[in-house]
Amino acid sequence: MKGWLLRNPQKMEDPSIVKIMKVVEERNLELELVNPLDVQVVCEDTPDGMVYVGDEKKMVPDYVIAAFFTEKNYHAQSVLIMLESLGAFCINNWDCIEGVDDKLHVFQKVVKDIKGVKFPKTVLITDKTTPEFISSQFDYPVVMKVMHGSKGQGVVLVNSEKECETLINMTMAGKCSDEIIVQECISSSRGRDIRIVLIDGKFETAFVRQNESSFRSNIAKGGKKVDFDPPQELIETAEKIASLLGIAVGTVDFLFGEEGTFYLCEANAMPGIAFDVEAAFKKVVKAVAERPVPAWKEVK
Ligand SMILES: Nc1ncnc2c1ncn2[C@@H]1O[C@H](COP(=O)(O)OP(=O)(O)OP(=O)(O)O)[C@@H](O)[C@H]1O
Ligand SMILES: [Mg+2]
Repeated sequence: MKGWLLRNPQKMEDPSIVKIMKVVEERNLELELVNPLDVQVVCEDTPDGMVYVGDEKKMVPDYVIAAFFTEKNYHAQSVLIMLESLGAFCINNWDCIEGVDDKLHVFQKVVKDIKGVKFPKTVLITDKTTPEFISSQFDYPVVMKVMHGSKGQGVVLVNSEKECETLINMTMAGKCSDEIIVQECISSSRGRDIRIVLIDGKFETAFVRQNESSFRSNIAKGGKKVDFDPPQELIETAEKIASLLGIAVGTVDFLFGEEGTFYLCEANAMPGIAFDVEAAFKKVVKAVAERPVPAWKEVK
């Protein structure tokens, strides 16, 4: 079974990538490092399953790990969609990567398709959103976020309408390149969240990230991992959300509400890898083996 790791070979020092490559070497796995920007994008109505990497013609791999986190561009996107169209199991596919990136759209999809999932009420900041409107919708403090932040960057607590006004003015005047959202603050979760890890869309493990010194639980902000045994209901909710968002391998994060309730915080298609990579590979290999034959093979 052959896989490709889609990643810029100049950027292999990320701890998650180092962890994957260690398992690949130890277990002698057939996972080839391919720079997505070296792959030619060809689309034809009768594909033969061959793909050009530079000038070299290769068989489409059985699975692909899309790890071009920070270098998402049209070329890399099209390569991933091409590989998916040729039957490669994509971890994760483009729709998933794009979809989970947008915290607002994730909530909108969830509210449409899954009943009974709690999440912090969220408002998109536009040039029509006044601080008075925010005050009419929420009690303070509220949480303000840039849409595409990660590791807790661009996530701040806003304590009053005055602060809200200042921040809205700054973002509008600075023509911030990212969308800004304001959320209900789930105070009972302060400095804590639950990360549910899913592999092949199914529950793998879970832990709490806990931070004594910030309301943000991110490891990058000083959060620590603590073991956590999630209730079955939460596992089922996480699996439904993963299925809705097409997460093959990723996480669904929850905040702690009052009285044993949980609030969806966000989903991640490319989380830092805080789980057993070897076990993950085994499950991926099994999932690939159980997949239907790609359409182009059947036509032949
Ligand atoms: N509405 C909220 N109420 C209370 N705490 C929150 C809320 N939203 C976020 N947090 C806290 O802030 C942290 C960072 O927020 P969020 O996960 O949205 O940002 P992120 O930068 O995308 O994180 P990641 O790197 O995990 O993707 C959360 O893990 C949680 O601890
Ligand atoms: Mg997060």
